[in-house]
Amino acid sequence: MEAKRLAAVAALGEVRDGMVVGLGTGSTADHFLIALGEALATGKLADIRGVPTSTQSERRATELGIPLTTLAECPAPDVTVDGTDEVSRDLDLIKGLGGALLREKIVAQNSRRLVIVADGSKCVDRLGTHGPLPVEVAPFAHETHESFFRKLGCAPTLRRDGGAVFVTDNGNYIYDCHFAGGIDDPAALDRALRARAGIVETGLFLRLADLALIGDETGVRTIERE
Ligand code: 5RP
Repeated sequence: MEAKRLAAVAALGEVRDGMVVGLGTGSTADHFLIALGEALATGKLADIRGVPTSTQSERRATELGIPLTTLAECPAPDVTVDGTDEVSRDLDLIKGLGGALLREKIVAQNSRRLVIVADGSKCVDRLGTHGPLPVEVAPFAHETHESFFRKLGCAPTLRRDGGAVFVTDNGNYIYDCHFAGGIDDPAALDRALRARAGIVETGLFLRLADLALIGDETGVRTIERE
């Protein structure tokens, strides 16, 4: 927990007065929201507006007194700070275990910089080795994707929340796709998935992140895009 918090607090150093900031989703991003709310309350930062990546981060930002805006009003946030489920040495990511991957990717792709905050448990040599790849799909005929996913070499599981199917902020479903031994070619997999009608978005965030701040018990190290 402390490692996540240290990384999130370090991300405040990427924020300047007057910036529009994409607000990530999840427990690590929540530490950043708390730090940002405190910086605004104490006058350390001023004139910040946030663009939430989920209804969860929208609610938390409102509770913490962070003024909000939208991509319609501010189409190019100066920086987005978000968590991740996996980060590779070359800054490619798997995101979406928190269920917010579509809005997270829309905000990230419009941001001037994407800063990732995580603890060391999220670092991988090969994407897909620590957990599944979340894939968001339209509910209509979603069962038809299962055999397609299997042909791509994974075991898909329709995400549930208790007994019911998990529904994203966008009214879609998520398949968690488990690749034994990880993903061979993330870019080719991403292309194949996104070419199929009914698949809305994947949790592969390739060449989107600019900086990762990785916390451990003693401090924060950085991975920067070359
Ligand atoms: C949500 C995400 C989160 O950033 C990811 O799941 C990391 O969450 P946490 O910081 O709680 O480990 O992608 O869709």
